[in-house]
Amino acid sequence: MSTQTKKGGFSGSIGFVLAAAGSAVGLGNLWRFPTLANKYGGGLFLIVYLILVLTFGFSLLITDITIGRKTGKSSLEAFKAVHPKWGFLGKLTFLVPSIIVTYYVVIGGWILKYMVSSVTEFKATAGAGYFDSFVSDKDSPMIFWMLIYLAITAFIVYCGVEKGIEKFSKYIMPALLILIIGIAVFVLFSKNDATGKTGFEGFIGYIKPNLNDLKTDGSIDISKVMNLLLDAMSQLFFSLSVAMGIMITYGSYVKKDINLNKSVKQIEIFDTIVAFLAGMIVIPAVYTFASLGNIAKPGPGVIFDVLPKVFASMGVAGRFIGPIFFVMVAFAALTSSVSIMEAIVGACSETFKTSRKKISLIIAGIAAVAAVVVCLGYSSLSFGVTLPTGAQNQNLLDILDYVSNNLLMPIISLLTCIVIGWVVKPKWIVEEIESSGHKFKMRTFYTIMIRYVAPIMMVLLLLQSLGVFKFLSK
Ligand code: PFF
Repeated sequence: MSTQTKKGGFSGSIGFVLAAAGSAVGLGNLWRFPTLANKYGGGLFLIVYLILVLTFGFSLLITDITIGRKTGKSSLEAFKAVHPKWGFLGKLTFLVPSIIVTYYVVIGGWILKYMVSSVTEFKATAGAGYFDSFVSDKDSPMIFWMLIYLAITAFIVYCGVEKGIEKFSKYIMPALLILIIGIAVFVLFSKNDATGKTGFEGFIGYIKPNLNDLKTDGSIDISKVMNLLLDAMSQLFFSLSVAMGIMITYGSYVKKDINLNKSVKQIEIFDTIVAFLAGMIVIPAVYTFASLGNIAKPGPGVIFDVLPKVFASMGVAGRFIGPIFFVMVAFAALTSSVSIMEAIVGACSETFKTSRKKISLIIAGIAAVAAVVVCLGYSSLSFGVTLPTGAQNQNLLDILDYVSNNLLMPIISLLTCIVIGWVVKPKWIVEEIESSGHKFKMRTFYTIMIRYVAPIMMVLLLLQSLGVFKFLSK
């Protein structure tokens, strides 16, 4: 956390926004968003996501950050300070980063692997089936890459050098943004000579909603609508790092004179632009390059299938741009995984009153064992489960993602809405936002969201997660 100290807080609004954006922008934007957008063929998912970010995302993020600033406490203690009977919610939020870390480091490992392979085996990475054979290899090379990624994350947390990496990421992040824009423009003008398909057509597909995707036998299927909403909402939680306690802790470092309303909007804009651009590369590229190998298959591997093909089509330039891109993604991912690990280590050292260094090692050890099991879920422990949402053939990584993002996060958000909307009342939040002397113009909107709209939506999403709507539409 570059521009902060536990006592002094962030030095200013920009420092806070950048640190929070460092946690928010990561694999959620660059891997998870394009994966989900591709699952829905773009259009609809993008529009629904944008609407949810502006409404629910704003309300939930400002709630988390304001709880942190008002109580001055980390997530573990903050809810007790909101209301003595609600301390359990702090403990519940702790579960989320604990689950996410076990698979985040696995994807981080994939990024490292591609960072190296895009130099050593440039052509092969762009070939058909490279990703599939990497993840399903019985020797599990992904364990090796995951362990390296986890070791780097743990080392940063162990040494307490987050400051260093985040300072560095201040330069890397804008560079990443420029590179993504450049690649997106390249894809926009690309053309597959064999099929005649162009990137521009793919882009139109990305931004144009197609209601047919929500229909079964010609009429709107409620279960499909709910699945889309659930996926978009789970993406929002994951990407903005809300409903997992992290933003509460960040909020506790924010100075009292900072305009929270403005800062939250800036974090959201930054996070959403990166996700939008990542989608703007992947969706049109899947469309354009679909005939060049198995990349149209929706799933976690989509960016790893499609990006090397984009780089290969750039000719010599791609040999440089590819590796540079993966290095930058690795940095963006690291600032996020460090914040996830920090949250766990911070909470444990507070609870067990043990040194941070010791706890860092223990947590890294536990995370390593769990992540090895997640890796094996792709090879020797491979199985396919159908989730209550109807998603078929899901492995361990998908199941963990489902439990944290589709079950725990809506539950935590629902409980947060209840305690803020009905127990202490939205005024509790509004007063804190306005204590900086800035009028909170969205006060009425916020109150309606937190008391009525968000809790109802969370209940509906939970029912969907548990498969109730699928059952009803049968
Ligand atoms: N928001 C991060 C991303 O989009 O990659 C992921 C993340 C960060 C998840 C912090 C959980 C967390 F506690």
